[in-house]
Amino acid sequence: MELNEAQLATRETWSTGDYDALAEYIWSVGADLVQRVGIGPGDAVLDVACGTGNATIPAAQAGATVVGLDLTPALFEAGRRRAAEAGVVIEWVEGDAQDLPYDEGTFDVVLSTFGCMFAPDHQQAANEIARVLKLGGRFGVAAWKPEGTVGQSFARMSPFGPPPPPGFQPPTLWGTREHIKTLFTATGLNLAWEDAAVDFRFESLDAVLDEYSTKFGPMIKLLAAAESSGRGPAARAALRQTFAESNQATDGTVAYPGEYLITLGDKPAT
Ligand SMILES: C[S@@+](CC[C@H](N)C(=O)[O-])C[C@H]1O[C@@H](n2cnc3c(N)ncnc32)[C@H](O)[C@@H]1O
Repeated sequence: MELNEAQLATRETWSTGDYDALAEYIWSVGADLVQRVGIGPGDAVLDVACGTGNATIPAAQAGATVVGLDLTPALFEAGRRRAAEAGVVIEWVEGDAQDLPYDEGTFDVVLSTFGCMFAPDHQQAANEIARVLKLGGRFGVAAWKPEGTVGQSFARMSPFGPPPPPGFQPPTLWGTREHIKTLFTATGLNLAWEDAAVDFRFESLDAVLDEYSTKFGPMIKLLAAAESSGRGPAARAALRQTFAESNQATDGTVAYPGEYLITLGDKPAT
């Protein structure tokens, strides 16, 4: 696959740090989504922007035939290890959510946990989900809410990075019902929503900062950009502040909710 500049930058970002280690914190989301969508034997499933297999692996465990697609194939190594441990077979495919390498109507189910939200062209990513679904097919997408703790960490840290490209839409718009409605209006898909949250727990605020600044590619990049413009301390303070404000623990540890929106949908059979 030949990559353009934006795709190369995306791959470089998500290859940085140790995404798989961080994925542990949100690992329950994939299995939960698989259950909500109701995946079972006989389903052909595509997990878009699958990372190391958060939704991919539980979908296969449920008996489906599963493809995990991502722009960052470096993540497949951990995915393959996890799949082997789980005793399932996954087809790992390098690809872009905005240009899925499949014919119309290929899949019974399309999933994405905190994945397609990162494709720059939201409309194109939504159109592609709708296109590759069979008539009667279902989809489930989990996306961080803009007002939630994770969403706020992105909002507060983005100004420390380079200016976004023209037409940029924040990924967390996928965490709002209004935006999803707009994206899928022309596709004819039926939509429904559920609110959900992941419980994040850390030993201390220092531990949170340490995890994000050493393992999470996008945050590593933002902190490096801040550092190079002399704003490193301010960026770290902003990140710390975000988690301090959301912290619900009172014993010196850190516990905060990662609020996200689940969009469930189906493509009418006729
Ligand atoms: C937050 S991770 C989520 C990974 C996984 N779904 C999970 O729940 O752990 C975001 C993923 O989106 C992928 N990604 C970003 N832009 C993409 C695009 N345009 N097409 C396909 N994958 C993309 C990244 O490589 C990364 O694996």
